[in-house]
Amino acid sequence: MSTVIEDMIARKVFNARGNETIEVDIITNSGFGRASAPAGESRGKAEVVYYPQGDVDQAMKRAEELIAPEIVGLNADFQEEIDRTLHEIDGSKDFRVIGGNTAFAISLANAEAAANSLGLLLFQYLGGYIAHKLPYPLGNVISGGKHTRGESPDIQEFLTLPYGAESFFESANANVQIHARTGAALRKKDKLFSGGRSDEGAWVANVSNLDAFEILVKTCEEVSDELGFECGLGIDVAASSLWNEKEKAYVYEREGKRRDPGEQLEFILQLIRKYHLVYVEDPMHEEDFEGFAEITKKAKNCLICGDDLFVTNNERLSRGIKKHSANAVIIKVNQVGTLTDAWETIELAKKNKYIPVMSHRSGDTCDWHIAHLAVAFQCPVIKTGIVEGTRIAKVNELIRIEDFLADRAKMANLQILQEG
Ligand code: PGA
Ligand code: ZN
Repeated sequence: MSTVIEDMIARKVFNARGNETIEVDIITNSGFGRASAPAGESRGKAEVVYYPQGDVDQAMKRAEELIAPEIVGLNADFQEEIDRTLHEIDGSKDFRVIGGNTAFAISLANAEAAANSLGLLLFQYLGGYIAHKLPYPLGNVISGGKHTRGESPDIQEFLTLPYGAESFFESANANVQIHARTGAALRKKDKLFSGGRSDEGAWVANVSNLDAFEILVKTCEEVSDELGFECGLGIDVAASSLWNEKEKAYVYEREGKRRDPGEQLEFILQLIRKYHLVYVEDPMHEEDFEGFAEITKKAKNCLICGDDLFVTNNERLSRGIKKHSANAVIIKVNQVGTLTDAWETIELAKKNKYIPVMSHRSGDTCDWHIAHLAVAFQCPVIKTGIVEGTRIAKVNELIRIEDFLADRAKMANLQILQEG
């Protein structure tokens, strides 16, 4: 029996920043799916356009008038056809006509509706029987850069990756412990610290990059010792936010330093060595494929991940693969529009031994679909924060999936971090 789409409803809701976003319901003859789109703050330049002329109302109008008549009547089981139809209706390269976030919400709602119509969970529907591995949660502990206002470190995110854990629950618990201890340590360091947190639920404190590293190294070590497994340290430099094109330098305002590309490269390599970083995202600005490659060549046992560099885009990832720019890629479906686009990028990544890192956005909703996508598409890492409602929505969904899989649940393979 085919799963016929009987109705598509678009509505305006809010994301956790209080900004308007689009949510879509897909109703089939035997099921239902719903998805809402997130938004980034430190976006890559090559991401698709979220809404036509930045206007959610315009996106809603086009969803009703242009898209719904084409989508209703199609078979929800044929995800590629739905996604292709969205591209055809739009006609541009970057979804500027219907909006990438509109495409995202329809694409995800459709996948959910197809799964629901078959009586399956989304990860089962997309990944089948072989999807039984849980990703390691990469969690944001201290925020800086564009994700904060006022005094904070220049580096955007200080992260933990409990890659030695034997279950998802244990690894999520490790992140929660590290987050809590870090909060207590920040209180000691910054007398004016009032427990403020960023959109991603990470601490915002008036500390330097160096302070943040020193605190996090200690809390990670303590929690690793107590729980008996490795909790690694990572960063998202979001270097495009630091890069000044005119000066050809990375400007670290808080530190009062300017680093030319060569100095930036050395600085990052030093950080990797000194703090045994296992994960570094966007260490160089989004057009510096060569600088990325230098770091990837020299860094040992460390994921060098492109976010703004690749923007989940197949062509940009191909360029990076040719130049050996990285060994990991962030997957944010709304950077590229549809599930099929993101899936193709994941496939390309895996074929070339790049680790796909499924990721939230800083302005997210309680939508939990990325938890299922990480399991279905076998992404060894999911970047989705530690605390805060829209992050916990994903973390708790992964706990449910682990519970559902019972004895079949295994943690993903992250051997790359243990190779010599
Ligand atoms: P976002 O960035 O604000 O664009 O979601 C998060 C990130 O850089 O990983
Ligand atoms: Zn990033």
